[in-house]
Amino acid sequence: MGKVQILEHPLLQHKLSILRDKNTGVKEFREAVGEIAALMCYEATRNLATREVEIETPVATAKVKVLAGKKLAIVPILRAGLGMVDTMISLIPSAKVGHIGLFRDPETHEPVKYYCKMPPDISERQVFIVDPMLATGGSAIAAIDILKNEYGCKSITLMDIIAAPEGIKAVSEAHPDIDIFVTAVDEKLNENAYIVPGLGDCGDRIFGTK
Ligand code: PRP
Ligand code: URA
Repeated sequence: MGKVQILEHPLLQHKLSILRDKNTGVKEFREAVGEIAALMCYEATRNLATREVEIETPVATAKVKVLAGKKLAIVPILRAGLGMVDTMISLIPSAKVGHIGLFRDPETHEPVKYYCKMPPDISERQVFIVDPMLATGGSAIAAIDILKNEYGCKSITLMDIIAAPEGIKAVSEAHPDIDIFVTAVDEKLNENAYIVPGLGDCGDRIFGTK
């Protein structure tokens, strides 16, 4: 069974409060999403494999640890997931980036796929799906289905800033092998499948489209 990790670090919780505030403007909102993604990335990559190598410092020989094991890929779910990519790439510059375009049908709330482009060797990479919001779980499940069934990905981690209990349950049931990192699990979904209290429409708040 995949693990659900709620990241309660004070810096994350403080920045999350900025996202939740309806008075936060686009610039501050976008910056906070990026900063949260970087802090989440730090936690979500905690167990990456390392190997020991020997290097020369200006003073002496030193045994140091460098990343080993699978190469990494970051896969944002468009649009809102884009807000998490830049800061993650700045921490992991060798990561490749794949994109999955999904939007929720306003009536059914089911995800509709409109775009998909992956690095050619994605099946061999450890994939971090990033999307600030896990509401019904439909978009995350669709993204994981695509990565597993169409691209043969075997190692996938999901990173969402805010989740609803319904979304966590749905993803865990559909894909029990996936680890999920979030900074908060909120109370519930409302009748429009928005997270309560949540932060509103994340894509609109990142890109200023409302
Ligand atoms: C939002 C969000 C997730 C999805 C979550 O995207 O970024 O992808 O909703 O909802 P779910 O768990 O119920 O599937 P949205 O469909 O609003 O598209 P956008 O990012 O382009 O605005
Ligand atoms: N997508 C969002 O942007 N916000 C929600 O609360 C749910 C889905």
